[in-house]
Amino acid sequence: MTLTIVGSQLGDEGKGALVDRWGGDADVVVRYQGGDNAGHTVVEGGAEYKLSLVPSGAVRGTVGILGNGCVVNPRTLFTEIDDLRERGLDPDVRVARRAHVIMPYHRVLDGIEEEIKADDDAGDEVGTTGRGIGPTYEDKAGRRGIRVADLLDPDALREKLEYAVPQKRALVEDVYGLDLDDDRAEAFDVDALHEEFAAIGERLADEGMTVNCSDYLHRRHEAGDAIVFEGAQGTHIDVDHGNYPFVTSSNPTAGAAAVGSGVGVTTVGDGDVVGIVKAYLSRVGEGPLPTELDGDADEEALADEIRERGGEFGTVTGRPRRIGWLDLPMLRHSARVSGFTGVAVNHVDVLAGLDELKVCTGYELDGETLDTVPTTTDRWERCEPIYETLDTWEEFDSSAVAEAGYDALPEAAREYLEFLADEIDTPVYAVGVGPDREETVELTNPFDE
Ligand code: GDP
Ligand code: IMO
Ligand code: MG
Repeated sequence: MTLTIVGSQLGDEGKGALVDRWGGDADVVVRYQGGDNAGHTVVEGGAEYKLSLVPSGAVRGTVGILGNGCVVNPRTLFTEIDDLRERGLDPDVRVARRAHVIMPYHRVLDGIEEEIKADDDAGDEVGTTGRGIGPTYEDKAGRRGIRVADLLDPDALREKLEYAVPQKRALVEDVYGLDLDDDRAEAFDVDALHEEFAAIGERLADEGMTVNCSDYLHRRHEAGDAIVFEGAQGTHIDVDHGNYPFVTSSNPTAGAAAVGSGVGVTTVGDGDVVGIVKAYLSRVGEGPLPTELDGDADEEALADEIRERGGEFGTVTGRPRRIGWLDLPMLRHSARVSGFTGVAVNHVDVLAGLDELKVCTGYELDGETLDTVPTTTDRWERCEPIYETLDTWEEFDSSAVAEAGYDALPEAAREYLEFLADEIDTPVYAVGVGPDREETVELTNPFDE
């Protein structure tokens, strides 16, 4: 049995909360793409855990795997594991030997490219998390990446560093014309990198943390174990299916669960694929957002209210998130690309008590009506949302509602959810009414079917 959790919007939909909830019924939780650009929150009895790399099953003691499709910064990984140990958890994390390693120079290059794009006034900086994600995936595709397996073999590691590092140095100095005589120089020093990363390889080996991911998962699956695939980011920042170039450099969509872990597509497709939906939109970083609440002072005040109530500040960078109304063309695209069998709609509590509530059902573009997202950023940016106004609901007691079940939700909230499910032809499996594990109204538990 497998369950794949996918962000259906722009990231931060509350994926961590659902992985934690359903991961308790699973035996393995697997991240299949992305790296420490992710920030997944799990709240258990008021205690909050913010996880970047450690899969969200860790809070329930479930084995976590970083699949071959991930890019792994070992510094972040060990810091996170050590922090969790200090808080009394004992995370069991294994890393695919085929996964690529984020090296210090990747982070530096991420920063430099963003600065250069910001300086040329073309408005094409992405607003990345600065974690080196793009440059690491570039090296993977360019066949000059360093993989986890290379950290276990000091000679292979040296050979790879001696090939890659001079190229990176030349890129900074000769192409970007920048001087590396500052703090950044160490990130381009082969000897220093070799010393640090060979030691990391030793720790990974000593702690038995590396796996042949495909083989490991195949065996667990054959033994009847339940596997959760934990997507990071979201469909509309997918490098293929999102609004390029304002995207991350991996595929958060469900197909990548197979590619990024070495499990067959049929195995992933045999299980549930649940799209995580935020009941409104948030975006951290640049790029279009047709339903953004930024038109006038009233809209900005409303965005502020939602931002405050929903705690919409980036988990990784602390940046305030941009806010918009729920956008159904975006969800139609997401449901199709990943083949959702169900959705979990979070943050229904945050919309309670608003004066008005709108949902975008389609777009007007150049005299045409569209029901899905256009393929270019330029066209998406020019889309005028077509709105339907729905009834608002009063604030409610989240814990009591979660305990009593779906029918205890305010009627207008149920109508909102049923409208959404109907428009994207996908059933609602769960409704988030607060950040805590217990603050979820569950209609279908994928592991109970
Ligand atoms: P992820 O990246 O998709 O895992 O989401 P984040 O953890 O970055 O952001 C979601 C935020 O919303 C976190 O602070 C969660 O604790 C919180 N959250 C999740 N579900 C709900 C919900 O239903 N209601 C409220 N109010 N907060 C939620
Ligand atoms: P989770 O898993 C929201 C955004 C960045 C930027 C773009 C590219 O917590 O949902 P990157 O550093 O990946 O090269 O940045 O993608 N981004 C996210 N936005 N949630 C995330 O992860 C994100 N990870 C990256 O803000 O716009
Ligand atoms: Mg997040």
